[in-house]
Amino acid sequence: MLYNNLTIGENGHLFFAGLDTVALGKKYGTPLYLIDEEKIRENCRLYKSFMDKYFDGKARVLFASKSLSYKNIYEIVSSEGLYIDVVSGGELYTAYKAGFDTSKMYFHGNNKTDADIEDAIEKGIGYFVADNREELDSINRIAGEKKIKQQVLLRITPGIDPHTHKAVVTGSVDSKFGSAIETGQAMEIVKYTLALPNVELKGLHCHVGSQIFDSQPFVDASKIMCAFIKDILEETGYKTEFLNLGGGLGVRYTEADPVLDYDAVFSDIANTVKEAFADGKMEAPVLCFEPGRSIVANAGITLYTVGSFKSITGYKNYVSIDGGMPDNPRYALYQSKYTALIADRAGEEASLCVTVAGRCCESGDLIGEDMMLQRCSRGDTLAVLVTGAYNYSMASNYNRLPRPAIVNVYKGETKVVVKRESYEDLIRNDL
Ligand code: LLP
Repeated sequence: MLYNNLTIGENGHLFFAGLDTVALGKKYGTPLYLIDEEKIRENCRLYKSFMDKYFDGKARVLFASKSLSYKNIYEIVSSEGLYIDVVSGGELYTAYKAGFDTSKMYFHGNNKTDADIEDAIEKGIGYFVADNREELDSINRIAGEKKIKQQVLLRITPGIDPHTHKAVVTGSVDSKFGSAIETGQAMEIVKYTLALPNVELKGLHCHVGSQIFDSQPFVDASKIMCAFIKDILEETGYKTEFLNLGGGLGVRYTEADPVLDYDAVFSDIANTVKEAFADGKMEAPVLCFEPGRSIVANAGITLYTVGSFKSITGYKNYVSIDGGMPDNPRYALYQSKYTALIADRAGEEASLCVTVAGRCCESGDLIGEDMMLQRCSRGDTLAVLVTGAYNYSMASNYNRLPRPAIVNVYKGETKVVVKRESYEDLIRNDL
């Protein structure tokens, strides 16, 4: 199967991280997110091994927690020695409440409010990745009021098309994020930042996009950013200390997805950066990487209960499940393909072509179309694989569906780490 945490038991059921998913679905109810802690730790260590191999262990790995955010996740990545990227006051608060060291946090986003900035500075945020002048002014003013010098990185757009879904491209010139090198605005904002009294410029950041299967966009971004860093040195004398190249490494959701050679990506980036600074005019900056999906995607699956199998004569087969776009909006948003299995009969051939439909009153509420599935009927457990990233973190209460629980699996033990929402939770703030 796609990943080694997915196996088929002697009873023909799908096992995840060594446990029978049919039994877990019955025990905890569905829809249910399962998270394999060992896999997250393995992914963190894999990244760290690349940092050791190609960057003398100096490069930093920041977990992009927009991909999966709840207290226990921050505890896990903290214990693996990772930094984190947060994109909102809510992510920051969750990490903070989990005891995550605020000095190891990077605060992202193209529009941080004054309240966000104030709160983050009060909590001792390590770095802001500042997007624009107005935001910098606000950081500078609030840092001044609090009598500190705040470390920042600047969000830069290198002008790259990484050939991925247009909704997840972020590094092109026409982007809501950051300042473009091409237009001269990136150099302007560097100079502007260097002149601010309560802000300390620590480096630059770029992120070309997400779900990328080729090392070329990363190499191109590294080249462009390194050349820009050298231009800055020339024009201002400022030596960039950190270069954050963002996240974006692709993961396999289906057997048809390519396999990305992560080792080659980091080796290529390391060579590019080394070459750029071979003239010895300045030391190469410390690199940072910001993976989200590739840390958590394959550490998650979602279990649902089948409500019906409906065959529309001459048309399609529909399998209806007890969740859908509120717990996984990715097909509705990006037509993202998933692999699904009937967990009760995972060993059988997937001979039926089906559309997996959610339970919302909306025809676009689908988990996938043309999916090959085992025969099934009401009461069976359907497992959707590789749902650890951007599922729970993008979940909503559309149609007033309560969000599912998250159960963490580690060394054969299970633990509820996020409780299932109740109807009472849904009306908690209704007055
Ligand atoms: N750093 C920055 C600044 C980002 O904007 C992102 C993702 C990442 C890091 C992490 O990228 P990753 O390693 O996870 O690809 N909701 C979409 C993905 C949006 C990604 C946004 N930014 C999806 O479900 O595919």
